[in-house]
Amino acid sequence: MLELLAKPVTQKKNEILAKKCREFISRAHRPPQLTVVLVGEDPASVIYTRKKGEMAVSLGFEHKTLCFPATAAPEEVKSKIQSLNEDPLVDGILIQRPLPKSFREDEVLFWVDPSKDVDAFHPIHMGRLSLGLPCFVPCTPAGIMELLKHYQIPIAGKTACIVGRSSIVGRPMAALMLAANATVIHCHSHTPDLRAMTRQADLLIVAAGKRGLIDGSFIKKDAVVVDVGIHRTPESKLAGDVLYPEAAKIASAMTPVPGGVGPMTIALLMENTLSAAFGQLDHS
Ligand SMILES: NC(=O)c1ccc[n+]([C@@H]2O[C@H](COP(=O)([O-])OP(=O)(O)OC[C@H]3O[C@@H](n4cnc5c(N)ncnc54)[C@H](OP(=O)(O)O)[C@@H]3O)[C@@H](O)[C@H]2O)c1
Repeated sequence: MLELLAKPVTQKKNEILAKKCREFISRAHRPPQLTVVLVGEDPASVIYTRKKGEMAVSLGFEHKTLCFPATAAPEEVKSKIQSLNEDPLVDGILIQRPLPKSFREDEVLFWVDPSKDVDAFHPIHMGRLSLGLPCFVPCTPAGIMELLKHYQIPIAGKTACIVGRSSIVGRPMAALMLAANATVIHCHSHTPDLRAMTRQADLLIVAAGKRGLIDGSFIKKDAVVVDVGIHRTPESKLAGDVLYPEAAKIASAMTPVPGGVGPMTIALLMENTLSAAFGQLDHS
């Protein structure tokens, strides 16, 4: 079984991003700037935010994290984001999820200006993606497409099953698969016989957020399996939505957790930030 490791892809990509970053600096006379907005102290979010910042700095970007207490009023955070939207020195803005319960996701989605929305969660991006128009693509599904391309996994004409329909992974993933000419089966928590669906898939992409949901019996022989799930086990290790040892006996290729989808997500975030920066420069 082929392990779809992110490292060879991200190494190459990071070299290209660092070079493009130097080009941007020579044109703009400043580094591209990514600001992450962190509300509260969710431990996983604190770690993810730190990792994004470290990667941004290692590529030559400027990075800032704006921290608000979990008790912050949504209006206060919104007003700060509005000022970031208007700041010509800020290229990319990312609101770290999950947000405290006082924040309404259906409102927050509209806060970041689409031209700086490097997470690509603004409804305008999802709409454009669904219509096959140019847009920022959410980092996790975009990273999965790059990973599949690197390993020359065929998509056109294949049956792709996506488990999960979140706005950040499942839905954009389905749109990308459709655009790449796969036949798409889209599953969610109301799918009555999940196994019957997943077993049809040449390409199975699992983003359900349920540890070990997919065992070997859900996988068609020689399918390619992409595991998006990330879970911390009681032994403090990372695990996915797919039971790796069982699945590895049946699949022809599979992403490990960690080392598969996660690093691709961060790499694509950096790429979106750089695109946003060049976009600002071209429109200034
Ligand atoms: N590696 C990365 O970079 C990365 C990035 C993002 C997320 N993640 C991880 O990926 C996982 C999914 O994230 P998310 O934000 O998409 O999660 P989410 O918003 O919780 O969505 C989960 C989706 O899975 C569906 N689902 C849940 N249980 C199911 C079941 N038993 N059968 C079929 N479908 C089921 C849900 O269906 P309904 O819509 O019907 O509720 C929902 O659409 C999480 O573990 C998250 O930590 C990883």
